[in-house]
Amino acid sequence: MNVLVTGGAGYIGSHTCVALLEAGHSVIVVDNLSNCKRESIEKISQIADVKVTFYEMDVTDAQTVDVLFRNHHIDGVIHFAGLKAVGESVEKPLLYYVNNLVSTMVLAEACLQYGVKRFVFSSSATVYGDNKVPFEETMNLLPTTNPYGETKAMSERILTDIVKANPKFGVSLLRYFNPVGAHESGLIGEAPNGIPNNLMPYVAQVAKGKLKKLKIFGNDYPTVDGTGVRDYIHVVDLAEGHVAALDNLTAGVHIYNLGTGQGTSVLELVKAFEEANDIKVPYEIVDRRPGDIASCYADASKAERELGWTAKRDIVTMCRDSWWFEKKMSDQSVSSTVV
Ligand code: NAD
Ligand code: WQD
Repeated sequence: MNVLVTGGAGYIGSHTCVALLEAGHSVIVVDNLSNCKRESIEKISQIADVKVTFYEMDVTDAQTVDVLFRNHHIDGVIHFAGLKAVGESVEKPLLYYVNNLVSTMVLAEACLQYGVKRFVFSSSATVYGDNKVPFEETMNLLPTTNPYGETKAMSERILTDIVKANPKFGVSLLRYFNPVGAHESGLIGEAPNGIPNNLMPYVAQVAKGKLKKLKIFGNDYPTVDGTGVRDYIHVVDLAEGHVAALDNLTAGVHIYNLGTGQGTSVLELVKAFEEANDIKVPYEIVDRRPGDIASCYADASKAERELGWTAKRDIVTMCRDSWWFEKKMSDQSVSSTVV
């Protein structure tokens, strides 16, 4: 298939481009480079040994998107492009609603107009809110605590309504849990701007000595050791989940959790990182972070049943690959991180 990958120069998108190319698909990558570097396109080509077509463009711009669809035969779209910083979304809700919702609507419109029947959307486990774990696809969604999460819940509803009116259109809503790790080459990975918000990049930067100490947000949750429990998934497993979703996509709306089904606490992750990489990660316990829930992990059985996909890489591999990427990135100074 000829696959349009929006946000394909970003963290999950770049790994998915590699997985698509390795599975024999062609990719057209579009990205406005607002949260990534152009070099990641070369890195994708280098890993997969295939030339990648890339356009720097904003997918909220309907006219440019129309030209793209007119000039290329597209069999399917994987829509990663979006803003994802939870805290920033609280401060700048309009930026998030416009970017994340308009992009989805513009792309869906182009698909309908040009007869593209496969649309894979990057959703998030955040749409479950504080439901009972493990989260199942059939659960009623609960309000999220921030505009970012709401853009995911709203995008899901918009796409579902579009399918109701256009029953031949196929949409896969992929609810990711906590993506971590990097490609084993160390060429692509997560390079957050500024001080990381997420646990794994923060741990890696503490290990590297860029940050002094990890702050663990609360140890009084009703979990195995009091710290927050999450379902960390290796980004390469996640990327392979997208190929499976695209290959199996039929008309209608299909919802899948992409997680491992395993919960890991913050303390367990720190220990795994220290053991996998033989390095110390100093930490202190501080207050809970507002908006956090105690536990979030998937029932991942539907994706296994219907797509034949399961996550294969364990927490040790996730920690090892995250560390390898952090070291390589710091050594080559290609990081956009400014601390
Ligand atoms: P990322 O920021 O690395 O990638 C997103 C890419 O989209 C970036 O390269 C950015 O430059 C681009 N982009 C943003 N707005 C754009 C626009 N209007 N036009 C063109 N390009 C645009 O983030 P990621 O972690 O790879 O996430 C990819 C998708 O998955 C996002 O939609 C995100 O919300 C979703 N998601 C991420 C996580 C996570 O923890 N990383 C979890 C659940 C869902
Ligand atoms: C994981 C655990 C923290 C940092 C977020 C978004 C979610 C999704 C993925 C996109 C929690 C603890 C963290 C730190 C810590 N993104 N922690 N010290 O909050 O589960 O999910 O990213 O859709 O929408 O909300 O991920 O990595 O921030 O936190 O103790 O410095 O680590 O409290 O228990 P989270 P995270």
